[in-house]
Amino acid sequence: MKLKKTISLLSAAVAMCCGTALAAPDGKPWMNTQLGAAERADLVVKEMTFDEKLKLVFGYMGADVEHKKYKRPEQSHVQSAGFVYGVPRLGIPNLWETDAGVGVASQAGPHARPGTALPSGLNTAATWDLQTAFAGGAMIGAEARGYGFNVMLAGGVNLMRDPRNGRNFEYGGEDPLLAGKMVGAQIKGIQSQRVVSTLKHFALNDQETGRTTLDVKIDDQSARMSDLLALQIAKEEGNPGAVMCSYNRVNGVYACESNYLLTEVLKKDWGFKGWVMSDWGATHSTIPAANAGLDQQSGMPFDLADYFGPPLKEAVMNGWVPQARLDDMARRVLHAMFEHGVVDHPVKAEPDKIDFNAHAAVSLKDAQEGMVLLKNSGAVLPLDRSVKRVAVIGGYADKGVLAGGGSSLVYPAGGNAVPGMEPKTWPGPVMVYPSSPLKAIQKRLPAATVSFADGADKAAAARLAQESDVVLLFATQWTGEAFDVPSLSLPNKQDELIAAVAAANPRTVVVLETGGPVTMPWLPKVPAVLEAWYPGTSGGEAIASLLFGEANPSGHLPATFPASEAQLPRPALDGYPEVENRRFEVSYREGAAVGYKWFDQKGLEPLFPFGHGLSYTEFGFAGLSANVKGGVLQASFTVKNTGKRAGKEVAQVYVAPLKAKWEAPKRLAGFQKVDLQPGAEARASVTVDPRLLAMYDSASKTWKVAKGDYRIILAADAAEAAGTKALSTVVHLEAAAYDVNGKPLRQAR
Ligand code: BGC
Repeated sequence: MKLKKTISLLSAAVAMCCGTALAAPDGKPWMNTQLGAAERADLVVKEMTFDEKLKLVFGYMGADVEHKKYKRPEQSHVQSAGFVYGVPRLGIPNLWETDAGVGVASQAGPHARPGTALPSGLNTAATWDLQTAFAGGAMIGAEARGYGFNVMLAGGVNLMRDPRNGRNFEYGGEDPLLAGKMVGAQIKGIQSQRVVSTLKHFALNDQETGRTTLDVKIDDQSARMSDLLALQIAKEEGNPGAVMCSYNRVNGVYACESNYLLTEVLKKDWGFKGWVMSDWGATHSTIPAANAGLDQQSGMPFDLADYFGPPLKEAVMNGWVPQARLDDMARRVLHAMFEHGVVDHPVKAEPDKIDFNAHAAVSLKDAQEGMVLLKNSGAVLPLDRSVKRVAVIGGYADKGVLAGGGSSLVYPAGGNAVPGMEPKTWPGPVMVYPSSPLKAIQKRLPAATVSFADGADKAAAARLAQESDVVLLFATQWTGEAFDVPSLSLPNKQDELIAAVAAANPRTVVVLETGGPVTMPWLPKVPAVLEAWYPGTSGGEAIASLLFGEANPSGHLPATFPASEAQLPRPALDGYPEVENRRFEVSYREGAAVGYKWFDQKGLEPLFPFGHGLSYTEFGFAGLSANVKGGVLQASFTVKNTGKRAGKEVAQVYVAPLKAKWEAPKRLAGFQKVDLQPGAEARASVTVDPRLLAMYDSASKTWKVAKGDYRIILAADAAEAAGTKALSTVVHLEAAAYDVNGKPLRQAR
């Protein structure tokens, strides 16, 4: 240790004295890129004045807030989410922060920056493809950098405990492994562009109704095996520079002043080295928050007070917050800045050239990979190009595709295709990206009559349907930040429209643009349904390419689609409708049995199971084998394309204990997306994270595998895995214990 320090001090000295390529300019030894982030951060902290440290831990909103008479700092970027002053004297740049997970967002106002929007986070999770998630992250990271931002407030991985949560579209679905891996890959992509990404919202912020006043009740074991596990896996996969703590309370304590969450779980147990910033308006105190582990207050003027401004100075001067804690806060911000290249590769003051065409292609690919063909009976899809009369109905399909609302909203080039819909202000505007499915369909059918009806007049829509050979009916559900949907039904009587149109023409394909799961009372009446989520700025093109079979659908559901609200752990949403400032509790009595685990445990049959997704080709699984070597479980299998088109299958490996008691009958333990030409087959394998074979033990902070037999199941969705048709094999596991991060503990073997 000592030797290492001496060597690096020496190298810093050499660099300083001898003017090598690694030289630290102007006597700034921390600019030596040969040193590690921790060392560089330490060197800077030593140079910083008290006031400089305080500046670094205090964030401003990057947009004017009229009702608070607040003007953004001059150096912030217009209509942006956040800004933090750096220390120019020491070569530490400002932090320019932008939302969020689908691209470079803008706050409302006249100067929104045009951006490329990926499809929703749920769509990306539905790709089950880490490379697609990484590529999307790299694209939006490059765009953020191009616009002069060095922090992206991305990485949303709140588990889908309730399909009515208005922000589900920003997240990665209901399974901790899938959500954690996919969101982690996206974070890694963003940071590959030398832009820090957050991981958020930490933690258990799983509904929007009463998000600032609700108090989540959950035991440690259940939390560690569900929401926290998703965050932990995303942290490991993505190594985010920052974590954003959430609005809600957990077991009586605000997340942003929870010593348990911030210091014990995140920093100590998981070894997080970066900084914790609060969500905008989620800081509630100075001393409790700082001492609990919050490193930076964000989004002045959204909190009641500038807790980490002058009050923090006073608290440190009085010793109520130790000086060492303030140093640690500053050090953590600097650590992330050094580690992720923000200091060594400063963003440019003026917007840089952005390759919007290349970015559109990345968004298109993500959308094509993530849309889910839910149903395809009969012979309507893929569409035949010889069709003569096509009706396109509803969903503003003549104009574009829907986006989710709130802080993550990216404004597209060309502007809103359907301006003026309510709500026009926060969490609106309701945005329709100008990527028209109708135009993309017409382009592919130059000789056909393609007619559009907006669906407002049900009878007119049914008449058009009757006169057509095939109907493409678009249905939408707008969701967004700060509110949940009252039910899983499509709004604005669209169920009635679909029923009427399907009655008029049985060749009706429904395309859904929804934030998450919806119910489908008309399902038996239509031959095909494509879940297109919020498909991003290339959405119209992506939908058409799948309908015509140019791309073969390969998305699989990252969340269960319930048959009704009655099947949910909380049939009525707690705290709904919201009453301002009313504090209430939400008991996560389902514990870690989230999504399909709950459905399995209760024997409920969903509308569509987790993992479900069809293709225009067929696949077969064979040759499943599983072995345990040194306690590590590996499953191998063959996937074959038995149909006539090239396509991709998502092989899902589930594990079900024969005797051991888990929170639910089975868990997803691994997955692999396999790309196959017709007739081709490939061998694939997954290695199972031991945490997915164990129960978390809070007292010893270990993951404990119970000795016994476990069924390893290979299936194309969670329901198939529960049935008798799926391939399976049984392995024997010895008792074993793993540390809090799933690393083997030798003594326990
Ligand atoms: C959201 C965050 C977002 C922040 C900044 C908050 O309302 O919850 O996800 O990053 O605003 O815009």
